[in-house]
Amino acid sequence: MEKTDLIVPSLLSADFLHLKREMDNIAHLGLKRVHFDVMDGNFVEEISFGQPLFRALFERYRKRLSFDVHLMVRDYKRHLLSFLELGAREITIHYEAVRDFKDVEKIRNKHPELSLGLALSPETDVSRVLSLYDLFDRFLVMSVVPGKAGQAFLPQSLEKIKRLSLFRRENNLSYRIEVDGGINPETGRECLLAGADQLVCGSAFFHSEDKEGFLRSFLGKEN
Ligand code: DX5
Ligand code: ZN
Repeated sequence: MEKTDLIVPSLLSADFLHLKREMDNIAHLGLKRVHFDVMDGNFVEEISFGQPLFRALFERYRKRLSFDVHLMVRDYKRHLLSFLELGAREITIHYEAVRDFKDVEKIRNKHPELSLGLALSPETDVSRVLSLYDLFDRFLVMSVVPGKAGQAFLPQSLEKIKRLSLFRRENNLSYRIEVDGGINPETGRECLLAGADQLVCGSAFFHSEDKEGFLRSFLGKEN
């Protein structure tokens, strides 16, 4: 299969007892990146994993895979800088965690190497983030309530994707549109039709026995 960055597996649903096997398999399938969900037990209910695990995986896989770090944390500044320090270059913070976007601007100006994403939880209206386009390389539409894998896709997310896509086209902008939560071949295709560029996929990907077939079905090439 050709290398693709359309599907980004979310490690939250990986088999933690065989993480190396899962990572090797992702690289072998020709996928370009993995999604690394950091949860602090405060911004969201549960705690997932953080810097120590990132360090171990990044050191071993940085040449084969990019890491897309999704910070579901209250103290986004501290963790953003810490992941940057560890070598992460694609990091997404949450709109709902930011008090003052001037702080984000300062970090941006200081770290031109950073590709920064802004995630919107389901309760956040898309009109709140459109004016922030020049601060971010990506918008991440959360299509489930952040904090847990395996939830059902919220259909109202499609409207958000369409708005982001239309705004991008009308203003000749180039940010990417990512979607995260409840993605399977069916919801994924709807997101792509709505204008999404990249789909984060946790449980549906890792629970699939035939991953090559699973990836092909996203691309609409199954037979
Ligand atoms: C949810 C996480 C997602 C999650 C996706 O809070 O941000 O990345 O792992 O898992 P699925 O695809 O199972 O909804
Ligand atoms: Zn995520």
